[in-house]
Amino acid sequence: MFEKLSRRWRKWSTIWKHRRFISEAVEWHAFFLANRDVSVWGGVSEDDHRGLREAVARAASFEGPIVEIGTLFGWTTQLLASLKSPEKELIAVENFCWNPFCVPPDDHRVITRRTLHYCLEHCRTRIFDGSSREFYDTYAGRPPSMVFIDGDHSYQGVQADIRWAREQGVAVIAGHDYNARLHQPIVRAVEENFGSDIQVFGTVWIAGGESRQARPRLAA
Ligand SMILES: C[S@@+](CC[C@H](N)C(=O)[O-])C[C@H]1O[C@@H](n2cnc3c(N)ncnc32)[C@H](O)[C@@H]1O
Repeated sequence: MFEKLSRRWRKWSTIWKHRRFISEAVEWHAFFLANRDVSVWGGVSEDDHRGLREAVARAASFEGPIVEIGTLFGWTTQLLASLKSPEKELIAVENFCWNPFCVPPDDHRVITRRTLHYCLEHCRTRIFDGSSREFYDTYAGRPPSMVFIDGDHSYQGVQADIRWAREQGVAVIAGHDYNARLHQPIVRAVEENFGSDIQVFGTVWIAGGESRQARPRLAA
């Protein structure tokens, strides 16, 4: 009897001790369960895959690396690595400030590195461990062929990402979460920069590059 009560006490005191983390994790859990059509636990949906495919195909006509802002656990990074040519470099920018499971930043870092092990070893992929701002301030390579924006989801954050990409002369600028119901600041920033001159696949938006869909069909 005493042992049972003591176990219960330990359990509830652990829950109390971690109550803030548990409450945040539950909130994200409920959010992503309610919005499965838009995002898979912070990552892209199957519909969005079409947009990434299209964006990488457009970027193939241009020199320079692909830059992903906001890597999370490396899901889109792996997709981008599988779609790009082996020679093209892929830079995954991530500051480990957020994840839907509320895993602490250092553990998040380890999980992402392990997930991306193959890409890091064999697919000309590297992680920039830092914020997009730090990346922009220090990047000295050739202008990227494509930037995929899925990091800071605030209006100012997306504006800064788009501004840098435009200043660099990036051919294909794309991003995730183009959804007015859940991410109005993203839609606002994208529309202020590109108006209606974007294509949307699921919630992936793409500006620039030659649309493969607009390409005239060759006669058989
Ligand atoms: C929605 S998740 C990215 C999802 C990922 N692209 C995927 O589909 O698998 C956003 C990520 O951006 C990161 N992030 C947020 N603000 C950032 C910033 N200013 N610089 C770099 N990474 C940032 C967060 O830590 C988080 O991992």
